[in-house]
Formats: sequence, C-alpha cells, structure tokens
Amino acid sequence: MSIIVKGKTALVTGANRGIGRDIAIAFLNQGAEKVYLAVRNRASVNDLVNDYPGQFEALEVDVTNPNSVQALAASAQDVNIVINNAAVLAPSGVFDDNVFDSFEQELNVNTLGLLRMARAFAPVLEANKTSTFIQLNSIVSFKSFDSVATYSASKAASYSFTLSVKNEFEQKGIQVHSVHPGPIATDMSEQAGVKDIGEPSSVVADDIIDVLENNVFLSFPDEIAK
Ligand SMILES: NC(=O)c1ccc[n+]([C@@H]2O[C@H](COP(=O)([O-])OP(=O)(O)OC[C@H]3O[C@@H](n4cnc5c(N)ncnc54)[C@H](OP(=O)(O)O)[C@@H]3O)[C@@H](O)[C@H]2O)c1
Repeated sequence: MSIIVKGKTALVTGANRGIGRDIAIAFLNQGAEKVYLAVRNRASVNDLVNDYPGQFEALEVDVTNPNSVQALAASAQDVNIVINNAAVLAPSGVFDDNVFDSFEQELNVNTLGLLRMARAFAPVLEANKTSTFIQLNSIVSFKSFDSVATYSASKAASYSFTLSVKNEFEQKGIQVHSVHPGPIATDMSEQAGVKDIGEPSSVVADDIIDVLENNVFLSFPDEIAK
C-alpha cells in the first residue's frame, strides 16, 4: 500500500490496454479510493468495472477532441492524480510516403493531447489538494529512432511541453512527473517491431508508484531506458 496513493482519486487515459491498464490496476492495488478509466470505448473496460464496481469508473474521452477532454474534466472534478498515458505510434521514417500523415496523427494524440489534458485539468488539480500530473513520455523523447522518426519527434515535443507544464503547475501547487520507458511489451511496441525485447507493462506501473513515493521528476522504468 502506498501512503501517497492511499485514499486518492486517479484518472488514467488509455486505460483499456497496455501500460495504461496496468497503471490503473496498480493504483487500485496501492489503495486509491477510485480510478477513472478514461477510454475511447467504455465497453473496452467492462471487465474491470464489473470486477471492482465503484472503484473503477469508465469515462469516455478522445484526447484529439477538445470538447471531449473538457467533458472528461467536468466529470472527474474529484481527481487528485492524472496520468496522461494515451498515445499512438504510426511507424514512419523521414523518407516514407506516410511521413506527413503519421506525424499529424501522432502530434494530435501524443503532443496536443497532452496540452488539452493539462489545460482542462489545471483548475481541477489546483482545487484538489496534493495533486499530481504524470505524463507518459519515452526514451525517444531524447533519442530519435529512424524507423519511428515521427513518433520520436512527437514524444520529444511532448517532453518539452511537460517541462513547461511542470513550471506552470508547480506555481499552482501541482506536482508533475515525466516517465520515459524503453521498449515495453504492448501492442505499440509490436507496431514498432520491438515487442520481443520489451519488459512487461507492470514495470512502468510499479515505477510510477515509486516516482510518487520518492517525488522524482524524470524516471526511466526499465533496463533499456536506464
Ligand atoms: N510500449 C512501449 O514500448 C512504450 C515505450 C515508451 C513509452 N510508451 C508510452 O506509454 C504509453 C502507453 O503505451 P502502450 O504501449 O500501452 O500503448 P498501446 O498499447 O498502443 O495503447 C495505447 C492506448 O492509448 C489509447 N488511445 C489512442 N488514441 C487515443 C485517443 N485519441 N484518445 C484516447 N485514447 C487513445 C488507446 O485506446 P484504444 O484502445 O481505443 O485504441 C490505448 O488505450 C504511451 O504514451 C506510449 O507512447 C510506450
């Protein structure tokens, strides 16, 4: 049980699969009072909500849609900890035909999605005491990989915005953490062709609990990231 998480209300975007799902489960296991599962399709978390009614609650969000993100914040006024995890990867190198389409899609979800979430939840987190915003970034925020050049650029930009969000949020009494995994065995790493070397997504979930306990800004959860 985590002293920091105990009794808190958390919200995880992209909580239906991969890393987000394990983060949501970890928060409940660590004593969170409630975890909002912010997903595009509520039916995708029926199993979790049915197993833990009242503790898991499904809320709909598409982080590319500003109205949807605002509606999410309006429905989760009691949240103390927001974990912005939702992202997409559309593999593309600089000279691939799909480079512009890929980058537009990744920017919209991975980078502008962060901006929309931070702006919508700023007043909620400021009003609720001891609150925290956690952004899922990546090792590719620091090092571009040629086969996922556009995704790398979107995650570099999301890290840059995380630094600005940190400065702004700290003035409002909100902690910010930036989490930078290497390859983790999920659908996304399969798309990137690195699933075989990925550690389980529970490694990231456990790391986020440590980040909160030890109040570190930057974290590198798995061996490759370290
Ligand atoms: N896996 C890795 O190797 C790795 C490494 C470093 C960092 N990360 C980061 O860790 C986070 C989680 O990655 P993952 O591997 O768990 O990815 P994943 O398995 O591909 O899952 C992505 C999640 O994001 C949701 N999502 C996508 N677009 C969305 C939108 N417009 N609105 C709301 N939700 C949306 C998906 O929902 P649907 O099911 O509806 O599509 C899904 O729940 C991401 O930020 C990723 O960049 C992953």
